[in-house]
Amino acid sequence: MLRKSMVSLAVTGSLLFGMTAYAAANPSDHAFDNKIVKRIKVDNIYKTIELLSEEPRVAGTVAEDKAVEYIEKQFKSFGYDTRVQPFEMFQYNPPTTVELSVDGLGDTDFAPDTFTYGVNGDVTGQLVYIGLGGPEDVEGLDLSGKIALVKRGSYTFAEKIFNAAGAGAEAVILFNNTSGGINGTLGEPSDDYVPAVAIGRDLGEQLADRLAAGEELTAHVKIAGAKVERQTSHNVIATKKPNRNKDTGQIVIVGAHHDSVEGAPGANDDASGTATVLELARVMSNMPIDTELRFITFGAEENGLIGSYAYAESLTEDELDRIVGQFQMDMVGSRDAGELIMYTVDGEKNIVTDLGAAAGARLSGVVNYGQEGRSDHVPFAELGIPSALFIHAPVEPWYHTPEDTIDKISREKLQQVAEIVGAAVYQIARLDTPALEHARVAPKPVDYEFEERELE
Ligand code: BES
Ligand code: ZN
Repeated sequence: MLRKSMVSLAVTGSLLFGMTAYAAANPSDHAFDNKIVKRIKVDNIYKTIELLSEEPRVAGTVAEDKAVEYIEKQFKSFGYDTRVQPFEMFQYNPPTTVELSVDGLGDTDFAPDTFTYGVNGDVTGQLVYIGLGGPEDVEGLDLSGKIALVKRGSYTFAEKIFNAAGAGAEAVILFNNTSGGINGTLGEPSDDYVPAVAIGRDLGEQLADRLAAGEELTAHVKIAGAKVERQTSHNVIATKKPNRNKDTGQIVIVGAHHDSVEGAPGANDDASGTATVLELARVMSNMPIDTELRFITFGAEENGLIGSYAYAESLTEDELDRIVGQFQMDMVGSRDAGELIMYTVDGEKNIVTDLGAAAGARLSGVVNYGQEGRSDHVPFAELGIPSALFIHAPVEPWYHTPEDTIDKISREKLQQVAEIVGAAVYQIARLDTPALEHARVAPKPVDYEFEERELE
């Protein structure tokens, strides 16, 4: 259904500028773009990447702290209000010893796997089959001193362990319901787990069959060396409030992640995005705007988007109502990567991709979109906030390697992304565009297409 305002905008657009793309043909948009484009100094971005990528910035380490300190200092120097948001994360070291044997089964090699966040222990006990290990399966059972045999399915691994442990079981052997191994996680640490191992379907069914036939089986489970470490990582948030009397209430977020994986200096992943966030913050620091801008660098992205989830979870209902878009820049400067693309989690266009595509068309050429998660736009998308990941795809061969270094960074690529994201953000934030109205009824900007482009 076409809204009336949308029709009239489309008509005005075509009357004034012909049938070519609205955004590409509006001369005032070019003037506004220039306010951003002319101010971007790609050397600033390049130098920040150089500095940040002197060493890996693994979340929770001193190197991350140093990066966080630097980023906050930069934001402050541009006149921003800043906040460093700490959040907890867990580092799990898997066990060094994992043993499983069953008396009477000779030297069957069960090749047991373990679960992330699983606990240590050394247990010998009678094996009891409890099916899927749901609440109804353990109801009225006394498994004290016993080891529970459980089949995969219906409940999470952690639920099965809690149910068995709740009935007194001292360990759990979980078997697969398909072929292959189980590479499972319990989701988070807990003191209420009992030691648990995972085995293949065939061996598990064999054990269940023997128990069903009335055999008594004694099992030994030994797990040692597993360790959970609590760590703190941080997000850095810089805020620019809209001009007084011009406040539309809307909020736009521009993000990147400042952490990297172990062993990788992360020049492109994602010092490039972080440095571009900083430069756009500098460029916009004195621009008149009607929209609150939040420039955020997230920590612990590489550990599972932990920083962006922590930030997203901390948003109030009021903020959720007011955030109209999140632009994520991750891996935006590699000489050896492909063209720019915008990825949304649901594979649909949204206001962020519309604005990005329109800015691209005005500045350097059409930018297409595709479907991908794998970065900090995901938690926002899950909250219903229009968001997109700006990245060059396919990614470079140096992704997550020690070769992700400054010498592979292209100033042209950085410049292009800074211009496009900067112009897109400014189009929504500048004074003349009618705020939320604009966001909701943005003229169909340009023809840009869905692409199934290989990433790696
Ligand atoms: N920058 C990458 C995301 C990425 C890489 C997207 C290659 C597309 C192609 C990001 O930092 C990353 O490595 N993400 C993780 C996922 C995350 C949930 C831990 C990944 O893709 O393995
Ligand atoms: Zn990344």
